Amino acid sequence: MKLLIKTKDKTYPIYFGENKCFKIKKILAENKIKTKKLIIIYDKNVPIKIISKFKAKLKEDKNIFLGIQFNEKIKNLDTVKKILDILGKNNFNRNDCLITIGGGIAGDICAFAASVYKRGLNFVNIPSTLLSQVDSSIGGKTGVNNFFGKNMIGTFCQPNVVITDTVFLKSLPRREMICGYAEILKHALIQDKKFFIFLKNNFKSILNLKPNIIKKSIFNSCKIKKAIVEKDERENNLRKTLNYGHTFAHAFESTLGYTNKLNHGEAVLLGILTASKFSNKENLLPKSELELIENHIKELKYNNLNTYFEKNNINKISNFMIRDKKNNSKNINLILLRKIAKPVLNKKYPQIKVKKFLNSLIDK
Ligand SMILES: NC(=O)c1ccc[n+]([C@@H]2O[C@H](COP(=O)([O-])OP(=O)(O)OC[C@H]3O[C@@H](n4cnc5c(N)ncnc54)[C@H](O)[C@@H]3O)[C@@H](O)[C@H]2O)c1
Repeated sequence: MKLLIKTKDKTYPIYFGENKCFKIKKILAENKIKTKKLIIIYDKNVPIKIISKFKAKLKEDKNIFLGIQFNEKIKNLDTVKKILDILGKNNFNRNDCLITIGGGIAGDICAFAASVYKRGLNFVNIPSTLLSQVDSSIGGKTGVNNFFGKNMIGTFCQPNVVITDTVFLKSLPRREMICGYAEILKHALIQDKKFFIFLKNNFKSILNLKPNIIKKSIFNSCKIKKAIVEKDERENNLRKTLNYGHTFAHAFESTLGYTNKLNHGEAVLLGILTASKFSNKENLLPKSELELIENHIKELKYNNLNTYFEKNNINKISNFMIRDKKNNSKNINLILLRKIAKPVLNKKYPQIKVKKFLNSLIDK
């Protein structure tokens, strides 16, 4: 199964299927990536058995394999520099290729390095987490964090190929499956109420990797993101809806200093819940639909803001929100929901209003 992403910049395929990544040689040839040199940067938590099998399929001694323990704390320019130095030292040229096997963190960092090295190296993304398969591997956003917040430095640069292979999900901890589920849920909430109902009815099968259900959920999610990025690659308008819940989520993560106490997908789930509550408070999302969302998030056994924050964190959270990339004024720009599948763009609120709202949700 294949999906073509057609942007102004580039048209590229996403290949889907169990064990598809082992067809790497054929896929490179099909996409006319005739490279002399390959570097494969992989997340060290991907089972070594898969990496070894992948290595064997490439059969070239001169390929460079580099394992990195990726996490949000090393999603920064230092890591990018290390990768660029390796590319430079080994005299990589534009028609050579960087392949990444990893989650959203590995993908975002390596895609950024590939996009700036000699102004663009071939890049193949093999996402190994549910989150990266349904979201971060599609649409060409690359980037790293800095002191001022999340994904503050980056480029738009589409990959040459994406290979989405469910073989990777078998070793993924349940906690990470829920993180990926958060982005699938976001796609349903902004675009497709029927899909949301499907998710409510099938989330246990998704988390337990029931083959047909997980395949359908990944594919639907990718189709929703494809439709959006094809219409608005550079996030001038419609693509902003993909940030539903994320203005809150990124501020939550940044406030906690990217600890694994709250990882990205978990922050997204909390962000979705918070944005839905805010939408209801603003007389947009009806109470009945807020309850549907809230009950579903509770079914996932999720904690609320009080698990992570105290009232004295609110200043810091709202300061990160004001620095969000979507803002160009003193106000906080939020994506809200009028109804499930009916997002509202560019709602702007003074910081004080958001602070009062957070104050109403955090007990102590
Ligand atoms: N570029 C985009 O459009 C976009 C969209 C959404 C999120 N993101 C970014 O994605 C990142 C989050 O991605 P993520 O949730 O994949 O996190 P991640 O990359 O940290 O992966 C989660 C965890 O799973 C481990 N892992 C990876 N593959 C594994 C496997 N097959 N088996 C076992 N463990 C495995 C990793 O080592 C890590 O501990 C954030 O930095 C976020 O900003 C980017």
